[in-house]
Amino acid sequence: MADFEIRAKDGLARLGRFTTKHGTVKTPLLMPVVHPGKSAISPRMLVDEFGFQMVITNSYIIKSHERFRNKALSEGVHALLDFDGPIMTDSGTFQMYFHGLAEEEINPVEIVEFQRDIGSDIGTILDVFSDPTVRKSKVEEDVQKSLERAKISIGRQGEMLLAGTVQGGMYTDLREKAAKALGAMEFDVHPIGGVVPFMERYRYADIVKIILASKKHLPPERPVHLFGCGHPMLFAQATLLGCDFFDSASYAKFAESGRMLLPTGTVHLDELTELPCDCPICSSMTADELKNEGKDERELKLMKHNLYVSSSEMRRVRQAIVEGNLFELAAYRARGHPTLYQALQVMSEEYQQLEYDDPIGKTSAIFYTGPETTKRPEITRFHSRVLSRYPYTHTNTILIVSDSGLRPFFDTSEIIIKEVRKRQARDIVLLFATPMGVVPWELEHVHPAQQCLFPEKLDSETLSMVSERTKAVLESMKYQRGILFKRDVSIDVALNFLVDEYSFDTILVASEVVNQLPPLSNEDSWTKRKLRALLTYQWGSRAGNIASLDNLEVVLSKSTGKIRHCKKDDEILFTVVPTTGLLTPTYQGGVELLGVGLEDTYKVIIDTDVSEFVASGKSALAKFVKTASTGLRAGEEVLVLDEEQQLLGVGRAQINGREMTRFKRGVAVQIRHSRQR
Ligand code: GUN
Ligand code: ZN
Repeated sequence: MADFEIRAKDGLARLGRFTTKHGTVKTPLLMPVVHPGKSAISPRMLVDEFGFQMVITNSYIIKSHERFRNKALSEGVHALLDFDGPIMTDSGTFQMYFHGLAEEEINPVEIVEFQRDIGSDIGTILDVFSDPTVRKSKVEEDVQKSLERAKISIGRQGEMLLAGTVQGGMYTDLREKAAKALGAMEFDVHPIGGVVPFMERYRYADIVKIILASKKHLPPERPVHLFGCGHPMLFAQATLLGCDFFDSASYAKFAESGRMLLPTGTVHLDELTELPCDCPICSSMTADELKNEGKDERELKLMKHNLYVSSSEMRRVRQAIVEGNLFELAAYRARGHPTLYQALQVMSEEYQQLEYDDPIGKTSAIFYTGPETTKRPEITRFHSRVLSRYPYTHTNTILIVSDSGLRPFFDTSEIIIKEVRKRQARDIVLLFATPMGVVPWELEHVHPAQQCLFPEKLDSETLSMVSERTKAVLESMKYQRGILFKRDVSIDVALNFLVDEYSFDTILVASEVVNQLPPLSNEDSWTKRKLRALLTYQWGSRAGNIASLDNLEVVLSKSTGKIRHCKKDDEILFTVVPTTGLLTPTYQGGVELLGVGLEDTYKVIIDTDVSEFVASGKSALAKFVKTASTGLRAGEEVLVLDEEQQLLGVGRAQINGREMTRFKRGVAVQIRHSRQR
């Protein structure tokens, strides 16, 4: 059983810890490919000088050379490579494909047993590599054969972890089928294989489709390895799609032909008058000096450059997951080559597959990178929650304010907001039309409404999404009158349809808007109106009813005027997190949520045996989770109960409900408040 744990998520990316017999590694991770006999750079150096954590080598090469084989069998692969860190081995699949070896050359069971016998930490089955030029029926046969070999390999691995490779060429149905079948077997890691020819032909869009099809059915608790993807320009996109392991033979192969890897693409040394890199090699010499080195020395230096660059890009990717801005990094990298950009376009069309995994309640800003930004899961999720959960759908007047997206809204619409506050939701609803879509005033501080940064002049895709989303919101509401307050911003062109098709009146001056508003209300209830919208947005309509409980008090921040707490009988129930605009319940808030009949989606049930730990404030660990809803997303604020339905604590889900029930390692819910604390 694999020992994998998730620490942070972004899109489908996971920042994780994977434990092997020779140590725990941080993922996503890149393993340089080392040759058992002639590695110019030793595994030890790869760790000490370049910051790698794990290497991969080829068991077929070891097995077919007597001196490697004998040493590996008697002293182990770690002695052979003179390395005591984690070692993964491959099976010879690629050699069979690349050199067209005969079928009898490698026995699929023997090669797995050999990897076990030499003490590999992770071994690989002898999957069948499909040439991308063959017809589909041949690829299907190959997949079938890979699955049969997978089946007979299981049980032969002993203590070794075993990798079951997904094949299927560019056929997404075959990839899905293979992933489903392999996922049902007891593997520890799932490589996605057969992508090297796609890499070589710059067919990155196909790689995106292949990864997405495979990921759909692979168990979330096992790392996914993108076999043969060693170019740093693809690391950000591939990790965003959920790849955890990478290997690189590219650092050596590219060096051999005088090419330098960069996170933005490839350059040939011959074309350079300057070295465009800040690694120790490039910082210590000029392009001419490097060109004038002897062949071997030049190749070694290029190899080192390639390793430095690949290693640092992987660190950058891990940092981006922590910060929640891997989408931006992937988008920047995609500008390195039109084929990478095409891959990003394909990926952004499929962002809904990333939505379930992408955590809620990020604090990071969303930077506009191009037309793909408006399709990001944080934004589409906000929009669909507004559609399904905004509570004030019946009103007399809808006032739409066009907004360039320069926040906060209060600064751009102070007069109007002050007037709306004095009225009831049944009389007037205020919606901001922004580059990310419609933001109801009550939800103005919720991430990402407050955190999106778009340029003033918008591209046409973003504009048409604004129209589409505004229409969808209006279709979900009932109202008598529509007013559009236009403010001469680029988004206005996306809102003309309001006048043409929805009979909105256009007003250009704020004071005139105020004159047109429905009469004042004598109840002063805007804070509760906002509170209900927030409660409903986060936990559904029943939770919204907390806003009408007796003795409820909404406390505003003296410095910002924003909602800070909600109290009942002088006890705090909820606090607004300033960076996300979302509510966090206290233990008593959790009690109130249960009292109004909170949906099961937001309840995590853990083993009663460990209830005291959680009740005393310790994290709820994934291995103790009994039930969690598959509808629960990472980042949600949830209640943790024991099997007797006793509320133990409240906190933030670190992983989603599906992961909670499958992972054996790591934290499921970080407890903020508990019964005893
Ligand atoms: N190395 C590069 N691609 C592959 C693949 O598809 N399968 C295996 N086993 N190794 C690879
Ligand atoms: Zn360099």
